[in-house]
Amino acid sequence: MSKGFIDVVLGLQWGDEGKGKIADFLTPTYDVVARFQGGPNAGHSLEMNGKKHVLNTIPSGIFHKNCLNLIGNGVVMDPVRLMEEIRRTEEAGADVKNNLYISRKANLILPTHKLLDAASEKHKGDKKIGSTLRGIGPTYRDKYGRSGVRAGDMFDPEFKQKYQKAIERHLALMNHLNFDDFDLESLENEFFNAVDALKQYKFVDSEYFINDLINQGKKILAEGAQGSMLDIDFGSYPFVTSSNTISGGMTVGLGVAPKHVRSVKGIFKAYCTRVGSGPFPSELDDDIGEQLRKKGHEFGATTGRPRRCGWLDLVALKYAVMLSGVDELIMMKSDVLSGFDKVLVGTGYKDKSGNTLDTIPYDFVSAGFEAVYTEHEGWHDDLTVVRDEKDFPQSFSNYISWLEAEVGVPIKVISLGPDRVQTVVRG
Ligand code: GDP
Ligand code: IMO
Ligand code: MG
Repeated sequence: MSKGFIDVVLGLQWGDEGKGKIADFLTPTYDVVARFQGGPNAGHSLEMNGKKHVLNTIPSGIFHKNCLNLIGNGVVMDPVRLMEEIRRTEEAGADVKNNLYISRKANLILPTHKLLDAASEKHKGDKKIGSTLRGIGPTYRDKYGRSGVRAGDMFDPEFKQKYQKAIERHLALMNHLNFDDFDLESLENEFFNAVDALKQYKFVDSEYFINDLINQGKKILAEGAQGSMLDIDFGSYPFVTSSNTISGGMTVGLGVAPKHVRSVKGIFKAYCTRVGSGPFPSELDDDIGEQLRKKGHEFGATTGRPRRCGWLDLVALKYAVMLSGVDELIMMKSDVLSGFDKVLVGTGYKDKSGNTLDTIPYDFVSAGFEAVYTEHEGWHDDLTVVRDEKDFPQSFSNYISWLEAEVGVPIKVISLGPDRVQTVVRG
């Protein structure tokens, strides 16, 4: 039997690049889709047969009946939100009971982790991260502090004691932060009901599960969450999430050695968006930004917050390509750029003293960079109906070729609308 492998598909910007759509589109050529980091801070949208589905913790292969889906050890999961998501997804026709596998080593988001997220943001005041308040940071903090509660612990007769120990620590912390505006009892009822319901699903020692599948010749797609510029090490720290979103995060988030990686597919929007606080040198605080937000429906899939919009940032894109060793690019939402006479691309950063650079420096957050742009001729055709690259307007083809030459990586897939069918694979 031929040897199995793993392909990684991940976001190269600040999240919401369209990972859900593309993972779902690519699934028919894979046997397994696996999430390796993040948690319900993610909102991955899929559209098929005129219907939209949003997934938060469940991998985006769940709507294909022959595909297994794994929530890996690197993910943090909230039993309450996951059960709601499972019900929604089952109602939409997915076979979650048979096709979803959950790592026993995934850390659990407890009710107090979510409260701690809110307490910490309140404490930070105008320096807040703009977290999704799903408890991500506090849960990873406990994981790395070696006091986390894991999915496998739900089956331990001592689960309630483990839970209680964590809760007491969290309550002391919240007391310290003067945060007491919550009803813990009702949150706990909800939590334990969800834990009971979740136990009927499949829990596995996921590192063995996935390596066995690779040895059996299976093809795995590892689906990233968030984006490279939100990576805990390389993003715009501290305005980041709490996990490694770059390709390296896959090996530790699933327990798969780098030698099994066949290729890394990097997803980017033809422009940029960001939700929450932090630097965004190519941000458009004007009419064009508003047009992008309206046309691109740039409102958070998880929180509904309006996304900040701006031109494509090539400095950040090249950085993300370098960090993850991206082999091929997937460009999303070019249809949203139709109708502009000029399309701009940020190719450098200018600091407050007028110095320019084309890399991301240590003081990225404090430097107050503004992007320096190149201008490209726009296109006016409706791209959402185009199904073949020979029908691309010339100026759009020029834009694609210019980007490929600048980044040095081929753009293999072009998405021209939210639906599965609005996708062009290039030869
Ligand atoms: P993810 O978090 O990376 O999966 O991305 P989100 O689902 O949060 O945000 C992407 C949004 O863009 C969703 O509403 C998608 O339905 C939509 N979308 C994806 N690809 C395209 C595209 O090529 N064109 C347009 N117009 N919308 C798209
Ligand atoms: P997907 O997978 C966009 C942002 C939040 C905030 C920061 C930290 O849908 O692309 P957290 O809740 O992790 O503590 O928030 O990261 N953020 C995202 N932005 N897409 C996401 O996920 C995000 N997940 C977190 O807005 O700025
Ligand atoms: Mg999203």
